Amino acid sequence: MESFIAGLPKVELHLHIEGTLEPELAFALAERNGITLPYADVADLRVAYDFSNLQSFLDLYYQGAGVLQTEQDFYDLTWAYLMRCRQDRVMHTEIFFDPQTHLERGIDFATVIGGIHSALVAGRKTLGVSSCLIMCFLRHLSEESAFETLEKSLPFKAWIDGVGLDSSEVGNPPHKFTRVFAKARELGFRAVAHAGEEGPASYIWDALDVLKTERIDHGVRCVEDPLLVARLTAERIPLTVCPLSNLKLRVFDSMADHNILELLDKGVCVTVNSDDPAYFGGYMNDNYQALADSLMASKEQLRRLALNSVEACWLPEKEKDVLR
Ligand code: ADE
Ligand code: ZN
Repeated sequence: MESFIAGLPKVELHLHIEGTLEPELAFALAERNGITLPYADVADLRVAYDFSNLQSFLDLYYQGAGVLQTEQDFYDLTWAYLMRCRQDRVMHTEIFFDPQTHLERGIDFATVIGGIHSALVAGRKTLGVSSCLIMCFLRHLSEESAFETLEKSLPFKAWIDGVGLDSSEVGNPPHKFTRVFAKARELGFRAVAHAGEEGPASYIWDALDVLKTERIDHGVRCVEDPLLVARLTAERIPLTVCPLSNLKLRVFDSMADHNILELLDKGVCVTVNSDDPAYFGGYMNDNYQALADSLMASKEQLRRLALNSVEACWLPEKEKDVLR
């Protein structure tokens, strides 16, 4: 099974670039930038990666991002992830970034996107890994702050394929961002949103009907609403599911309880993704392997999951055919 997974051509659709910051790189960047981390060493930092829910993870994740200061830092971060893509046979990836996390710390939009974009260009050329870039709004901040971020992104619009919505879900429903998503779509951005990770199924309806998103990030709580599952199935609305993330953030008590195969067998377009792999203990192959180990996923099911990602990605149809 391991070699089958390693050889399977994969597409990743749910990956926060800030969530690929491995402790080793965090320490290297801290040293380069004269920053002292509140951890003795790499092992000490890894020990802190013990989360009880989404918020306990986010607190550490936003703190970790503090070592990212220069364009070169964002380049190095993105490049390290793209090298992992090649290692895991990820042929195409659609990457989230959180500009507000960096703008709030006084880092320019140009510094953040300049580093990420240059690495993506080099990744296409040197590693043969194609990519899209999705700018996320932090949902614990105001819609006004999201509008300011959208405004700052406009000089770089050609490098950004879509907008997304992430951070603390419960209490921050998608409709809080109705106007900024409408504006973004009017400007030509595609739209996705995290919904139904910790939040209820109603947030998924909200993302689809109010924000008019074309995919749902996570979405696993859709099972609480049979009408919603019927709609996702009928319209082939993709869910970008993240098994190891769901386990680490205790969305499911154990991997054996995960509902991804149940959704797959119901005809929902579910896909496998790594979310924040440096924090959750695994990249793409590890996420596929977890489904084989704990849910007894068959090769045929894993292949269907990989094909769903090809269907759900934003590549032109001609380029998708090469991945099937
Ligand atoms: N930001 C990074 N990872 C996230 C997740 N799993 N949910 C919400 N926001 C995030
Ligand atoms: Zn996510």
